This record gives sequence, structure tokens and C-alpha cells, in this order.
Amino acid sequence: MNILIKDIGQLITCANKGRIPKAGKKQSEIGLIRNGNIFIEKDKIAFAGSNAELKKFLAGSAVKNYDVIDGRGKVITPGFIDSHTHFVFAGSREDEYEMRQAGKTYQEIAKAGGGILSTVNAVRNSNKSELTELSGKRLDNFIKYGSTTVEGKSGYGLDLGNELKILEVMKELNENNKYGIDIIPTFLGAHSVHPEKSREEYIYEICHNIISIVSREGLAKFIDVFVEVNYFTKEEADKIFTFGKKYGLTAKLHTDQFNSVGGIETGIKHNAASVDHLEVLKEDDIELLAAHCKDKKKRNIIATVLPGVSYFLGIPYAPARKLISKKIPVALATDFNPGSCMTENIQMIMSLASVHLKMTAEEILNAVTINAAFALNIESKSGSIETGKQADLLIFDMPSYKYLVYNFGVNHLETVIKKGKIVLHVN
Ligand code: NIG
Ligand code: FE
Repeated sequence: MNILIKDIGQLITCANKGRIPKAGKKQSEIGLIRNGNIFIEKDKIAFAGSNAELKKFLAGSAVKNYDVIDGRGKVITPGFIDSHTHFVFAGSREDEYEMRQAGKTYQEIAKAGGGILSTVNAVRNSNKSELTELSGKRLDNFIKYGSTTVEGKSGYGLDLGNELKILEVMKELNENNKYGIDIIPTFLGAHSVHPEKSREEYIYEICHNIISIVSREGLAKFIDVFVEVNYFTKEEADKIFTFGKKYGLTAKLHTDQFNSVGGIETGIKHNAASVDHLEVLKEDDIELLAAHCKDKKKRNIIATVLPGVSYFLGIPYAPARKLISKKIPVALATDFNPGSCMTENIQMIMSLASVHLKMTAEEILNAVTINAAFALNIESKSGSIETGKQADLLIFDMPSYKYLVYNFGVNHLETVIKKGKIVLHVN
């Protein structure tokens, strides 16, 4: 199927001409074209540009059969990329949510046997088909709010069989979900230690057994560690990333969520694709990240901030403005999980980023598209509307892209195009 979308009120391309993530002032450059046009050939974008450019393109194109969509009064953006989620899990933790409302902290609940370990028990008691069904329903929610690519982490298994089970569910869903959502899997064995094992034993198991199997079976692209008091130290993360690298897995980190215990340094040492959370990030670590991002020879690390967690847990918000002022590229994600952020709605996160992180609508758009693509190493395929990229587009019925954060709490999304196919009419 080929499609021409014509006369688009506002076409937001998020084009990244420099082929680097958007940082500093560039984080505001969204590549806006008024009365723009997009030509989709099969699953790819063949053209995106102005009316004059379209004429030239059509004259030179051999493709004469195509559907036409009227883009007047619409805003079109790249499909959103949710680059940090834990969407494969069983059970739920609304009881903990209520305990927190009554004054208990996330850490107190975890110490008393709740938190991550309670979801681990639920996952261990579920089989693959139950997990697949639950997770498939969550994909329906992700795409309803515009996420056409979703990263997902293991970490609710905490032993070989159960970690593989979660990753296999993601593999199956990636190959077969009704919208063609791209699912990018991350191995997060080091999410917590299950009391059945000593930490030394479990870390040994991760490094000397699980990583090699995950890699051999092609079950993950990334390896993540929760660097935090009572979870994993920077030295343990260092060791786990060293083994991960040997098996072709790129580092990502949960770090500086409640305490700052050296995760940033470890992330930089291992050229992490992203460092995520950053609610209590220290000045020194911001400087380290800024220096790393300045170095043209190194691939930028994306700072992925998760304001939904701050909102849901009542903890500080990450210093997004400071990150942007220091030219560190910022991405936004839901961190969808049953404990610290129970929402698949990336638009809600965009609103929080506007109100609480004081990010502009433009910065936010790049944070959920091209910068998020860089956080997943998929920037050559996804994250912007440019010739040659996969045709993942969102059509919104609203007068301006600014309505995404201004007219909040309303889903303006009308149509989702994934890999060149109309896969969903929302409104
Ligand atoms: O990203 N911080 C660690 N992991 C998750 C929470 C997981 C859970 O509570 O189940 C997070 O916030
Ligand atoms: Fe997380």
C-alpha cells in the first residue's frame, strides 16, 4: 500500500540532519513544515516536505497508485517511542499504592517483602501464555496514546528460567502483535536479588550463565542494572556490564532514583546507551555527563527522565532543564511498571514533563521521538519522519502540536500508521 498525506496543517518531522541526538538548543528543533506532505511507499517514508517539493517528487516517482489522505487541520508527528518500560509482568500492586498514600515509602514497602519481589512471585506463578495475554493488552494501551515502539525489560524473574520466560514473551509479541509495534528487549536480571540466593551467587549466575544464554538466543539488545542502595552497587554493575559487552549487550542503567551511588560514572565507563531515572542526580555527575557528551569521538549518552515515577511515588523530579542547558540529550519515557509508574500513557508523561520539568513542547516532542530512538540505538530506522525511515506516524486532530501539552488529559490522536499501514483509528 502507498499513501500520500497532503496539506498537513503541521508536519513535525523531528528530522535529525546532524545524525546526532538533539541536545541543548537543538532539543527544540522539531522540523516543523506547515502545509506539509508525506509520501509512504510500502512500509517506508519516500518523501516528506513542502508543496513545491512534493510536485517535483511526484513528477520523478514511478509509483502512480496511492491512496490520498487529507491532512488539513491535522498535526502529524513521528510515532512515539517509549524507551523505558517493564510491561511484561503479572499481578498488580494497588495495595502498595494505598500504603504509600497512607504514608509508607517505596523503600519501606520493598523491605517488608513488597515491591519488585511481590511482582516476581506473581510472574513466577504465571505461564508464558498468561503473561503474553496480559502484556498484549498493555500494548493496546501503549498504542492508543501513540507509542509505536516500546522497550521492555525483564527483571521480574530473577532466575534463569523466569528471566528467559519474560524475554521470550517479548520476542513472541514482537513477532506477532496486532499493530506491528516494535518491541525492543532489555535483560534486567540485576533488578533485585531474590532471597533464595546470596547476591554473590546471583551475580555469578547472571555473569557466567544467564547473559550468554540471553545473547545466544537473541533475546535482548540491552543489559540494565538497578544501581541503588539495597539493590546493586556500581562495582557490581561494572562487572555485569563487562560480561554483557562480551556477549554483545549494550549497557543501560536505572540510576540516581533514590540515592546517588556512582551509577553515572559506571554508565560512562561502559558507554551506556542511556542513563535512566536521575531524580536525585548530583551536580558532579551532570558535569561528567556533559563532558562525555561534548566528546565528539564518543556516542552520546541519552539522559532518560521518567517524571511519571516522581508523580506516582512523590519523589523529586529529575533536573531536566539543567541537563538541557548542559547540552545533554534528554529522552522521556513512562517506566510503565506495577510499582513505581502504572501507566502506558506517554502523553500523560509529556504533560508532566511540561508542568513539572518545565520542558517546552518542542523539547518534549524530540524527547519521545528521535532522542528516544537514540536511547534504543534505532535512530537510523525510527524516531523521525525522513526519507528512508520506517513509516511510523501519528495523525492528531488538533490545531497545533502545542495542544499535546496545553490541552492536557485529552487524547487528540486520531490515526496511527505503523510500518506504512493504518493500524488504529482512535477517535
Ligand atoms: O524503574 N527502579 C526500579 N525498577 C522500577 C520499579 C519496579 C517495581 O517497583 O516493580 C522502576 O522504577
Ligand atoms: Fe524502570
